[in-house]
Amino acid sequence: MCGIVGYIGKREAYPIILEGLKRLEYRGYDSAGIALYDGSDIKLSKTKGKVADLEAKAATEINTSGTLGIGHTRWATHGVPNDVNSHPHYSNSGNLVIIHNGIIENYESLKKELLKRGYTFESDTDTEVLINLIEDVKTNENVKTNENVKLGKAVQIALNQVVGAYAIAVFDKNKPNEIVVAKLGSPLAIGIGDEEFFIASDASPFLEYTKKAIYLEDEEMAIISRKKGIKIRKIKNDALVDPYIQELQINLEQIEKGGYEHFMLKEIHEQPNAIKDTYRGRLRAKEGIIKMSGIDDNLERILNANRIIVVACGTSWHAGLVSEYIFENLARIPVEVEYASEFRYRNPVITEQDVVIAISQSGETADTLAAIKLAKSKGAFVFGVCNVVGSTISRETHAGAYTHAGPEIGVASTKAFTTQITVLTLIALKLAKEKGTISNSQFHMHLQELELIPDKVKKALKSDSHIKMIADIYKDAKNCLYLGRGYNFPVALEGALKLKEISYIHAEGYPAAEMKHGPIALIDEQMPVFVIATKKGHYEKVVSNIQEIKSRSGKIIAIVTEGDEDVKYIADHVIEVPDTIESLTPLLTTIPLQLLSYHIAVMLDRNVDQPRNLAKSVTVE
Ligand code: M6R
Repeated sequence: MCGIVGYIGKREAYPIILEGLKRLEYRGYDSAGIALYDGSDIKLSKTKGKVADLEAKAATEINTSGTLGIGHTRWATHGVPNDVNSHPHYSNSGNLVIIHNGIIENYESLKKELLKRGYTFESDTDTEVLINLIEDVKTNENVKTNENVKLGKAVQIALNQVVGAYAIAVFDKNKPNEIVVAKLGSPLAIGIGDEEFFIASDASPFLEYTKKAIYLEDEEMAIISRKKGIKIRKIKNDALVDPYIQELQINLEQIEKGGYEHFMLKEIHEQPNAIKDTYRGRLRAKEGIIKMSGIDDNLERILNANRIIVVACGTSWHAGLVSEYIFENLARIPVEVEYASEFRYRNPVITEQDVVIAISQSGETADTLAAIKLAKSKGAFVFGVCNVVGSTISRETHAGAYTHAGPEIGVASTKAFTTQITVLTLIALKLAKEKGTISNSQFHMHLQELELIPDKVKKALKSDSHIKMIADIYKDAKNCLYLGRGYNFPVALEGALKLKEISYIHAEGYPAAEMKHGPIALIDEQMPVFVIATKKGHYEKVVSNIQEIKSRSGKIIAIVTEGDEDVKYIADHVIEVPDTIESLTPLLTTIPLQLLSYHIAVMLDRNVDQPRNLAKSVTVE
């Protein structure tokens, strides 16, 4: 997990790389660095901290001219975030320089060998081992073949000795007209301009220059030459690959803040449209039709499933948990929801009759990917629900459905969650219809209600200033409890996660009824308890839970259905959301909890879009 950017062409590389790094900061932001070639030498600047720190340092440290360069923004895996461990890394000779996103798992044994051969290391990183391995291969091959072995060949031989994941970019100061890139498990896009090429972890750094891109597949490498263009090869067997050039559909506005103070706030407010985009072309309420090619094309296989196993991490796992209620309730299919990280190592029982649904915003989460590979190896049918088009998970699954939420840049997931629930609801409704577990009238009612959700989300967003006022009252809390039942139990978990990750306030999500089995001991007048108490479902039961909190002096902030008169008299504060059918309530109840976390984090002066220690996609175990 890190962002990599590179440029080779006619323009000055520095501003392109710097701006690109800023756009990729969501991938990691504990250190940053850049290496440029100006026609005579490599100029390298790197620092602990953000890209803005790099910008300040590079301006005083190096001459930033040059038409070739590579840059990196880091989320530390091997070695603490400091200047020395920041990328780029030189090889011992100072001729080669590398940036790397991923993990070299066998770096210790490789390092031992290199140490024996006289190599020295400045940093604690696996990346410095890799660049010296490339250098070592190059030197040995030169001696063996008695000619100057090309950088691409050396990279290829070295990568065949490596275990792990990588997206790398390397150049050689003695061959300054090319950059060699390679990919396994971490994303790498190449933008193709007019006699210029861009390299990046996603397309955002080069959107204003070109819409033509090649996404390297795993185990592919490319030699990108100023004069000769691009040559792609398989790392394992050297076979040439025909490049598949895609026309990108995203534009610059989608990855900018558009007047909002933070990406997270923008993305919260984008939810009405994002949800609409998710069901657009799929949901035809009037005709009573749901069209989803990933399901239609595999209907028999999915309908005959013994059970559905959902694998995901974090917020996506919470969306999976909501789907358990939806699938079981509407389609009567047994569902198990698994943390991908546990599932992959648990030796789970998976059969060919199982359907696995893998949910991931980024489509790059390492544990989810590993869970998919495991499920496939056991013969299960794997269906992906991803947001990032062309991502690894979307390519690794047998079929899938995109959420079409547009780029989510804030590290805290918001629109990814609601659009994942939307897709999963569509699938459940479609299967329910096919299986006959839902009546026609119920089916139509669900479709009509789903179409109303974007406007209801818009309405829920209108409580923003009221929520801000509540945030101000509770911003100094040390602990918070989130409670919900049924469909809204996962929303309680998600509400707690949102608060933790961006405000650093400890928060727990619990099924409301479980409170009396332990957490109730925590309740006193210092403890804010956020309770989802919408009219449908187990409303009366939740009201009883609220009474239990009240009689122990806890502070109650309740998310209620518009017009609710009962909870108002018990709770300290209520936040209203529009009424809807029970299965769709998570799409509304989650909105105030997102806003609440956002405002508390802003009031506490936290870095909302880039909370400490986190990164947007977790491509390491
Ligand atoms: O990209 P993914 O959906 O696979 O990411 C999974 C989690 O890392 C992610 O949902 C994380 O929990 C969110 N940033 C939380 O807001």
